[in-house]
Amino acid sequence: MADPLELLALAESLAAEAAELLREGVDHVHDVDTKSSLTDMVTASDRASERLIVEGIRAARPKDGILGEEGTADPGSTGVRWVVDPLDGTTNFLYGFPAFAVSIAIEIDGVTEVAVVADAARRETFTAIRGGGAHLDGRPLRCTDATHLATALVGTGFSYDAARRARQGAVVAQVLPVVRDIRRVGAAAIDLCWVAAGRLDAYYERGLAPWDLGAGALVAAEAGAAVGDLDGGPASGAFTLATAPAIFEPLRDLLTSAGAGTA
Ligand code: IPD
Ligand code: CA
Ligand code: CA
Repeated sequence: MADPLELLALAESLAAEAAELLREGVDHVHDVDTKSSLTDMVTASDRASERLIVEGIRAARPKDGILGEEGTADPGSTGVRWVVDPLDGTTNFLYGFPAFAVSIAIEIDGVTEVAVVADAARRETFTAIRGGGAHLDGRPLRCTDATHLATALVGTGFSYDAARRARQGAVVAQVLPVVRDIRRVGAAAIDLCWVAAGRLDAYYERGLAPWDLGAGALVAAEAGAAVGDLDGGPASGAFTLATAPAIFEPLRDLLTSAGAGTA
């Protein structure tokens, strides 16, 4: 049986090394390619960060599974799978906009048990172990106790696909007038950790990949946030909503009526 504390220690050290690599790369970005659309970028640093993390996992735990955004897909044979976004917030990274992170979730038998999000620019590390709470650089985290949508600060994000963006814009136009304000941080893992840290009251996004949401969703939940989709299920690519507990239902109802579930 894998020990979550040992897995966390390895994930933290690999995320710290990868975050250092990103900090070194941010001032001289090169080898920029596009992926799914003209706005979906990948840099040499995305790839180098994934390589560093994958090599580190393979050296310590050669039989574990790994899913990485930049192409690693290995089912493994131990029941442990590492889900890695080597650079969440690539667009920010390209511009030197200081919100980009390394995100590592570790699943045991299909359930995320361990999470690390290393915010490279801010040098902050968010961690969580299922049932063990969430921490920022070792300090326990708690989400806000927001009770009213009208005074809630709400983060969101948008797809790289232009048609989907147009629909997401129509949804956000219905949310903006009834909340305190909207933030678009540009890194889903950081959004989720900021709900955990009380820097946002809520965050929602449709279309996330497993590596975007895996670690951050556990950090948010372990900090007391309500985390799920719009239909009573767990957070997923179909929809991810993380909020202070009292505003989950009202925000879910608002998003549902605004058509966010199909946007
Ligand atoms: C993206 C960021 C962004 C979110 C997108 C993600 P990437 O990840 O997390 O905030 O809105 O949905 O794809 O491409 O920077 O790793
Ligand atoms: Ca990402
Ligand atoms: Ca990425």
